[in-house]
Formats: sequence, C-alpha cells, structure tokens
Amino acid sequence: MKGVILAGGKGTRLFPLTRVTNKHLLPIYNEPMIYYPIKTLAAAGIKDIMIVVGGESIGDFLRLLGSGREFGVNLTYRCQEGADGIPVALALAKEFAGGERIMVVLGDNVMDESLKGEAQKFEDNKKSSCHIFLKEVHDPQRYGVVELKGDKVVAIYEKPAQPPSNLCVTGVYMFDSTVFGVIPTLKPSKRGELEIVDVLLHYLGESRLSWSRLKSYWTDAGTLEAWFEANSIVREKRKG
Ligand code: G1P
Repeated sequence: MKGVILAGGKGTRLFPLTRVTNKHLLPIYNEPMIYYPIKTLAAAGIKDIMIVVGGESIGDFLRLLGSGREFGVNLTYRCQEGADGIPVALALAKEFAGGERIMVVLGDNVMDESLKGEAQKFEDNKKSSCHIFLKEVHDPQRYGVVELKGDKVVAIYEKPAQPPSNLCVTGVYMFDSTVFGVIPTLKPSKRGELEIVDVLLHYLGESRLSWSRLKSYWTDAGTLEAWFEANSIVREKRKG
C-alpha cells in the first residue's frame, strides 16, 4: 500500500499564523505538524509517500523533509495549484498510486495510534473499496459525521448543523484504485468545492465502505483551539 498526505489549502482558520507559513509547518509542541501524518503512515508500514502541497511552500517542505530518510520512508512531492477541495488534491496522486491501494492522511491530523493492523485487514478485504476511521468528538458540527444503525453506517453528512451522532469521520482514509474513477464524477458542493464526503457516499451507496474506530488520541489541528489543544496534549504525553 502507498501513502498520500494532503497538505495544501490556505489555512484561513489559523490566520494570521498561516499568512506566510503553510499550516502543516506550524509546530505541534516540539515537531512540525507534517511529521504526524508521515509518522502515522510509516507506523502503518507504508514506505512510499506522496505529499501534495501548495506551490508557494513546496520548497519549504523539501528543505524540512528531504527524501524522507529520517522517517524511514521515500517521499515524493506534488504541487497543487489552488484549493478546490480534498478530492481535487487526491486526484493528483493517481499515477503515483499506480493501481495500488492507498492510505490517505490529511496533513493536519495529529494522532499516535498504529494503523498497521487495519491497513493489513483492508489489503486483504476485497469486499471493501474504502475504509474510514471514526472518532468520538465533542464538536461534531466541524466534521464529516456518520449516522449508525447498529454497526452499519447508513448516512454521512459534511459539517451538519444537527449532527446525528458524535462520531466524526477523521481525515484518515483507505481506498482502492477505483477512487480515481469516482473523483471525476463528483459535483461541487454549495461552497464550490469537491467534498471528500461525496466520495465516501459513493462507496456507501455501493456497500463497499468499511469502518473502524480510532482508540487513541486524535485531533484535526486546523482551528486555533484544536491546534492549541493538540500542542498541550502532545506536550503532556512527551513529558510524561
Ligand atoms: C475535512 C473533511 C471532514 C473531516 C475532517 C477531518 O474537513 O471535509 O469530512 O471530518 O477533514 O479532519 P476540514 O478540516 O477540511 O474542514
């Protein structure tokens, strides 16, 4: 399996911290945020990783991360012009993926759990084309949220005003190569972007979506409060 990290976007929710710096280069306590998704993929046993990043900061990423040797991985970089949604960025990894299954991590997702077991299960599970990782959160309105009936996902909503549960869809996904055929069929949402939730809904409709829960700490550090909280939690863990 190959890995893809999506680290584009403008980081407007963190302005002015992100006016001249890419969000994923901001610190989470003692390491840049981008180290976390790289370590998540490395811990899952993935060696080949593409980082999709906005053109203006690609040089900073290269200077910081180089070949990826420090993490025991091989890094490839791909430049994303504009910010038209997560699926548009993901589509840039098509040739890199080369028909293999992929694990995709959003660059601001900070976690410390090994997904090696789940990655192996997904590789072996030919009935699933898409796997999502769910996590209980106290502010589900900020995220993609699932509705469960028993242990079946029956609906997924992007940033719902009235969430049907507190189970958010984290920014860690696994797909088979059919994802690159699904993305061109998507229509822009009300905010004018392609939405990753629409990709997930496609697989839900085909009964080819599987899921599991993250057991350990996870956050999307894309807002000031979540970024600050991630710094505090990681600091406590590192000290402890
Ligand atoms: C994105 C996705 C959302 C997901 C979240 C997880 O939201 O659109 O479905 O729950 O990442 O990090 P964003 O943080 O880009 O608003």
